[in-house]
Amino acid sequence: MGTLRFSKRSAQTGEQPISYYMQQGVENPRLISLAAGLVDPESLPADEVREVVAELLANPATAQTALQYGTTQGYAPLRAKIHRHLLAQDGLKPSEVGYNSDDIVVTTGSQQLLYTLGEALLDPGDIVITEAPSYFVYHGVLNSLGIRTLSVPMDHEGMCTDALEVVLARLEEAGELPRVKLIYTIDYYQNPTGLTLSLHRRRQMLELARRYSKAGRILILEDAAYRELRFSGDDLPSIKSFDRANEHVILAMTFSKPLSPGLKTGYAVLPRDLVGPLLRFKGNHDFGSSNFNQHILDRLMETGAYDRHAERLRGVYRAKRDTLLAALAEEFPEARSSMRWTRPDGGLYVWLSCPPEVATGPGSRFMEAAMREGVLYVPGVFCYVKEGAPSPPTPLPGGEGGNAPNCEARLCFGVASHDDLREAVRRLGAAARETLRGEKIAMRGFAGCKV
Ligand SMILES: Cc1ncc(COP(=O)(O)O)c(C=O)c1O
Repeated sequence: MGTLRFSKRSAQTGEQPISYYMQQGVENPRLISLAAGLVDPESLPADEVREVVAELLANPATAQTALQYGTTQGYAPLRAKIHRHLLAQDGLKPSEVGYNSDDIVVTTGSQQLLYTLGEALLDPGDIVITEAPSYFVYHGVLNSLGIRTLSVPMDHEGMCTDALEVVLARLEEAGELPRVKLIYTIDYYQNPTGLTLSLHRRRQMLELARRYSKAGRILILEDAAYRELRFSGDDLPSIKSFDRANEHVILAMTFSKPLSPGLKTGYAVLPRDLVGPLLRFKGNHDFGSSNFNQHILDRLMETGAYDRHAERLRGVYRAKRDTLLAALAEEFPEARSSMRWTRPDGGLYVWLSCPPEVATGPGSRFMEAAMREGVLYVPGVFCYVKEGAPSPPTPLPGGEGGNAPNCEARLCFGVASHDDLREAVRRLGAAARETLRGEKIAMRGFAGCKV
């Protein structure tokens, strides 16, 4: 029969290191999972979707259009509504931005955009600069494409743009600027840290992308998946809103978080010269995302049900964040514990920093104890890339991340109930006590930007 001969890309495409832990969560109902980045199940918009589907199918004309193939770029009335929606979020008039609905592409989740962009823009050995830590699924995409991923540290204002400048200057000195194609930022309530990029850093990031576009244009991939889930503080303008000529910023968004991941529909605003090339790759994938789902979304936006739902969700997640933060403060009081965590203004994640002595990665005492207690989290080390070269296809437990800190954890408050959030933190506390028994732990704050 002979051995199967896989592609080089296949060898670079490892299983996500997190899969094992997700599986544990599904198989063991006693476990409370703060690992999976799922949304709140009880607030999914079943009634709203049922009504819209009934309405669409009751009318033969709309039923026939919605159940037919659509276009690769996406349903034009939906793209027009997305255009208006984006302008409203940034408080801008159509004449104040360099894009219109022809520069918007609807995708099968924003995940498809992340992948197809890689296909359209990146060759093996090209450089993408990300945040440290960042969205580990995107790291997987970059590995698969053979990309060199460099990362820049973060502090409470998001990616340290001074450090980004140092990285760009060093790459220029080394003659590697031509290989730099993308800067990836999750600028609202980041996955995994919950941190938000500050206003002045948004401007600075764009200024750096422009200034270093010497050997070809450097693009910013602004992944704003969580933007609509702000539940405290004032909204910030997108980086895209400063890109008046629509040249440097790809704005990627999704209906998964503010509405329903089951509809698996995302969208992006692209610089005009990227639209055609990206659509050719998308055509190869699926020649269009689910047309039926796009009609559902179009109706939900039209009737205002979408905005009402997103508003409701903000309340749901604010309450869950508060429950998680209160439980953490009770379990790890500041005076007696050196556990630290972020306080997100939106999104689904809190980032827990343990003292350096408490390793949180796979095989660590803390993780083993947490599993025995019945609580799952995402080990922080999974969210860092190994600098310089593509990471190994299937990172060994604890092997990915190089010198990355191994004492952090991502806690998702999206899916667990309030009671489960409290119980999960109690279990984390028990695991920490078991790990720390007999050890004297030094206090430790947030690392901050070091350039
Ligand atoms: C930062 C970020 N980007 C993109 C995605 C992909 O979302 P989707 O493909 O459901 O739109 C996710 C999902 O968790 C995410 O956290």
